[in-house]
Amino acid sequence: MRKSILLILALMSLLPLVMMAEEGLWPPVVLNSIISEMQKKGLKLGADDIYSINHSSLKDAVVQFGGGCTGVLVSESGLLLTNHHCGFGSIQRQSSLEHDYLTKGFWSGSMEEELPNPGLTVTFLIRMEDVSNKVLENVTPAMSEQERAAMIKKNTDRIEKDAVKGTGYEAKIKPFYYGNQYFLFINEVFKDIRLVGAPPANIGSFGGDTDNWAWPRHTGDFSIFRIYASRDNKPADYSKDNVPYKPRKFLSVSIRGVEKGDFTMVFGFPGTTKEYLTSFGTDLIAFKENPVKVAFRQRRLDIIEAAMSSDTRTRIQYASKRAGIANGWKKMIGESKGVKRLNTLGLKQELEKGFIAWANANPDRAKKYGNLIQVSEAAYKRYYPYDLAGIYITEGFQGIELLKFSGGFKDIVKLSAQKDVKEADLEASAMKLKAATLSFFKDYQQKVDCRVAAELLSMISSDMDPAFKPGYFTQVESKYHGNWEGYVSRLYETSVFADCSKILKILSDPRAKNIKKLGNDPAFLLSASAAAVMDKKVSPVNLEISRTIDSLQRVYTEGLMLYQAGKTFYPDANSSLRIAYGKVDDYSPADAVNYQYYTTVKGILQKENPDIYDYVVEPRLKELIINRDFGQYADKDGTMHVAYTASNHTTGGNSGSPVLDGNGSLIGLNFDRNWEGTMSDLQYDPDQCRNIVLDIRYCLFIIDRFAGAQRLINEMKLLK
Ligand code: ARG
Ligand code: GLU
Repeated sequence: MRKSILLILALMSLLPLVMMAEEGLWPPVVLNSIISEMQKKGLKLGADDIYSINHSSLKDAVVQFGGGCTGVLVSESGLLLTNHHCGFGSIQRQSSLEHDYLTKGFWSGSMEEELPNPGLTVTFLIRMEDVSNKVLENVTPAMSEQERAAMIKKNTDRIEKDAVKGTGYEAKIKPFYYGNQYFLFINEVFKDIRLVGAPPANIGSFGGDTDNWAWPRHTGDFSIFRIYASRDNKPADYSKDNVPYKPRKFLSVSIRGVEKGDFTMVFGFPGTTKEYLTSFGTDLIAFKENPVKVAFRQRRLDIIEAAMSSDTRTRIQYASKRAGIANGWKKMIGESKGVKRLNTLGLKQELEKGFIAWANANPDRAKKYGNLIQVSEAAYKRYYPYDLAGIYITEGFQGIELLKFSGGFKDIVKLSAQKDVKEADLEASAMKLKAATLSFFKDYQQKVDCRVAAELLSMISSDMDPAFKPGYFTQVESKYHGNWEGYVSRLYETSVFADCSKILKILSDPRAKNIKKLGNDPAFLLSASAAAVMDKKVSPVNLEISRTIDSLQRVYTEGLMLYQAGKTFYPDANSSLRIAYGKVDDYSPADAVNYQYYTTVKGILQKENPDIYDYVVEPRLKELIINRDFGQYADKDGTMHVAYTASNHTTGGNSGSPVLDGNGSLIGLNFDRNWEGTMSDLQYDPDQCRNIVLDIRYCLFIIDRFAGAQRLINEMKLLK
């Protein structure tokens, strides 16, 4: 099995690419197989300039920002650009009614004023390496999936440990092509990351959720951070004595502007795509999971948004939470629509028919692949009810903040019930929970959560498969007969988890007898009951079936690569560094509708509406626009460009990714996808899929003309 994959990978590097579309998220180690195609399209660099382990290359200027975004280095003093929505959580946590950086923006006047962000990390890739042989050592075809997984885990742990012994680096092995290949990643993780600057929300999130996942766009979606290191330029925990990090590489910034057809390359850390799923897997996501998640989120959003619009404090407290809920909600709606429009299921079924016929035309293949599709269908059928129950728990019960919060006390309650529990262990656990409690209540409004709870519980009550309803929940159901508001108000009155001072009091005297009482708290009981369904009923079966599904998917992917031998397969995204290339391009979303590829500040004034939060225009920005005070950042046509579209294949995690021109200079920051392209994690459509890019000149214009932060501009290397 491994041999055939290796053969295909070898062929891949020899054959000229047959694929014309700009689809694909390419790991830097396969650059050699796509570099000539990239050069034909306008790249002026060699593969070695982009990724090298022997000398500094572009990859040394690209980082994973936090867990789920990308950032880019733009100065020799560790200055980093990412999206505003990527820095959002950090900016929000620094904000209060007195210092509302989220609303008003934040601009440090000097390095001393840059703000530390505990918990925030930035990760550099040092190198990656194919370790498939080592990972699959002693794995035999006769093994069960469970044995196979255990052997792979054992090998993986050992390789990871050995790889970084004595280096200070971190190691991570990730599967590619559903476990047909494995790569080892050696990373360097920095932990002292400070906030340098952020525009006010009505620039950084202009258009908000109304415009999210859509074009045309006028969002100044950037924020600025700086990496700090120890005096010997190594990762270190926060300390006053840390110094700005000296990167191996930082990017020059081109303010020459872009034109339709210009080569673009996106370098970043895309999270997840599932391009090679069977029709059943795609059906599950697009038409079974998404609608349920969307329905739960819709209710939460309605309530949270109503509360935010009537109270400033609530607005600040819920800004980050709401943005997260809404972002996924809208994406799922667009994705399901796109899959329907493209008839992805029909196309996949056709492919599967062809695959089955191809497999059965040869006895060896028939043995391996002949009934794969059939078995896969059965596995998904069995998976569905469990998967759905899991969604009712994660999006339903855990969508209620009080339940999620009290669920976090599961371990300490368990600990307190042990016979020979040590006081020191309880103390240590209580310390952590104290911090969690403070941060929970900082951004919590009980009124909002009560309303959410009543709605969600009533939804669960009427729609959840009774076979999976948590026992404690059914007791409540029969006691309150659908009076969810009544139940909820009683719950919040009686639960100590609803009261910050009561919880803190218990945590400051965490003797077993005090903690044990928490185990009988009504919020705790409800959340523990839901968690028990997850842990005992749902997860074990899900794990078992998804193992089967994964192994089928692994063999299917291998078979597909043989069946479609002329096609180049890029591995699905898995939060590892990837390159996507394409060009600045417009598109036509519907008959007679053509979108221009760029927007200008004129659109900001056209969208302006003082009554709609998303469209309030910052007065000082308006003044600059009216006075055409664009500095050196105006386009040659005299206007100030804000954003543009290109045909790079991107996904969640690519936010903040540098968009580079053919010379490797920074021309923009990726921040979104267009509405018609939101299904590209499941199927990419070259005709409709566009990534949305913040024109780097608008970012510099805000830093320079709006914020007057020339000290930051002076650090960068501008190409005029
Ligand atoms: N849709 C973009 C991405 O997936 C940006 C989200 C942030 N903006 C917002 N209005 N929620 O993450
Ligand atoms: N906004 C997304 C992110 O946060 C990037 C857009 C996309 O999903 O393509 O990563």
